[in-house]
Amino acid sequence: PKGVPSRHTSPISTTRSEAMTEAKRQAAEKAIEYVEDGGIVGVGTGSTVAYFIDALARIKDRIAGTVSSSEQSTRRLREHGIDVLDLNAVGPLGLYVDGADECDPHKRLIKGGGAALTREKILAEASVRFVCIVDPSKRVDVLGRFPLPVEVIPMARSLVARRIQALTDGQPVWRQDGDGRGVVTDNGNWILDVHNLRIVDPVAVERELNQIPGVVSVGLFARRPADVVIVGGEPPQVL
Ligand code: 5RP
Repeated sequence: PKGVPSRHTSPISTTRSEAMTEAKRQAAEKAIEYVEDGGIVGVGTGSTVAYFIDALARIKDRIAGTVSSSEQSTRRLREHGIDVLDLNAVGPLGLYVDGADECDPHKRLIKGGGAALTREKILAEASVRFVCIVDPSKRVDVLGRFPLPVEVIPMARSLVARRIQALTDGQPVWRQDGDGRGVVTDNGNWILDVHNLRIVDPVAVERELNQIPGVVSVGLFARRPADVVIVGGEPPQVL
């Protein structure tokens, strides 16, 4: 795949971005070990998860199906001939595998860089075991260097932005595409990215921002953190 060093690439010439791409693939491959025969697998969103979906395709006959967190992942799963089921029809999931934008030492996460945070949160909540797959660049001591995504009902965008400014030191920025249009989530909502946060108590910040009317969900996965974090590398590290 693109970005993966060939056998002839010397480690010295390997760029950081190629190394991170390879780390994503390594973490995704390791996560396959958590898939149980006959189980239904919750599937997250993003470039790391894309590697997981490709790996899952190899063992698709061993699972009963998947539940997807985004239209993007649903498309990739179906292209591989993997069944995508409705969460309402399947009950609790044994396993959920997803990436993250940041991960702290307590396995609390910032997610939503791909705008799929709400469905990702639903699947994390629905799962017995949440396995998070990351490259080493995602590890931080304190969450907040990555702007915190918040999904909002469109009519409440400005209200929520003002409330966030009053409650935190952060600067909310409306996420827009290259044409200056608001990025629309799979649920028909908009995203605010909150910059310049230093989140020392993620559980409290998640709770507080969740209370603002118009907030659909906050990209902090602190109240329900990951159970296992796999950091890509040779060998992958399991936290
Ligand atoms: C999507 C997410 C992704 O898991 C997160 O953005 C990480 O993506 P990638 O694996 O491409 O680095 O939360 O909403």
